[in-house]
Amino acid sequence: MQVLIFGAPGVGKGTQAQIIAEERGLKHISTGDIFRENIQNQTELGKIVKAIIDRGELVSDELTGQIVKDALSKAEGKFILDGYPRTIAQVEILEKIFNELNITSPKVVILDAKDEIIINRLTSRRLCRQCGNIISLLKVAENGNCPKCGATGDFEKRKDDEEEVIRKRLEIYHATTKPVVDHFRKGEGAIVIDGTMSKPDVTELINQKL
Ligand code: AP5
Ligand code: MG
Repeated sequence: MQVLIFGAPGVGKGTQAQIIAEERGLKHISTGDIFRENIQNQTELGKIVKAIIDRGELVSDELTGQIVKDALSKAEGKFILDGYPRTIAQVEILEKIFNELNITSPKVVILDAKDEIIINRLTSRRLCRQCGNIISLLKVAENGNCPKCGATGDFEKRKDDEEEVIRKRLEIYHATTKPVVDHFRKGEGAIVIDGTMSKPDVTELINQKL
């Protein structure tokens, strides 16, 4: 199974992709996660993309295309792709990659939510350093422990989750990525889901429709 998951920053792509991948034995390929891992490990790629990502801008189509090609060719046709394609040029690059890999009908999941909900979510988003899960500060227990693994709060905030950068990312999403999402929305069988529902409800609907 191959799944493409789309939606604005903070709509819940990573949260849902992580769950669906685990449940269905798919590889979760998130371009943002790959970049952040490279930044963390201070690789050459990480050094190139760090400032771009911190500003909330898009990494070049060429660089992103290489990363996706590499990841997809190792995924043995079982993946959920999160955060790609984000420009019309990336749509064309992905079509070529899919042709080479004989992938003909990937499933498309689109999550929708209004900007104000997204800003709220992203300013509260943290990553648990213990279990690696995406969590929300709004859901952290009174004792400050991770709602997923229960570990004593050891959370990391993404640099691009400052309100000013979130607004920049949303602006780029509407100007550049929304046309890509609308293109996939028109495709036969596109699964469109209200991303403002609870996490389990979103997961259940995705599973029903997949
Ligand atoms: P990327 O990492 O892809 O960031 P993004 O698209 O901005 O999306 P996010 O990861 O911020 O949000 P999400 O939808 O995954 O939400 P999440 O599940 O975490 O990209 C980062 C950067 O890398 C880009 O800005 C760009 O620079 C570069 N890049 C990446 N791909 C690129 C490409 N193709 N081309 C060029 N550059 C690229 O959830 C958010 C929060 O909400 C969490 O706290 C979560 O717990 C909470 N939440 C989730 N679902 C719910 C729910 N149903 N109810 C309540 N809270 C919820
Ligand atoms: Mg994400």
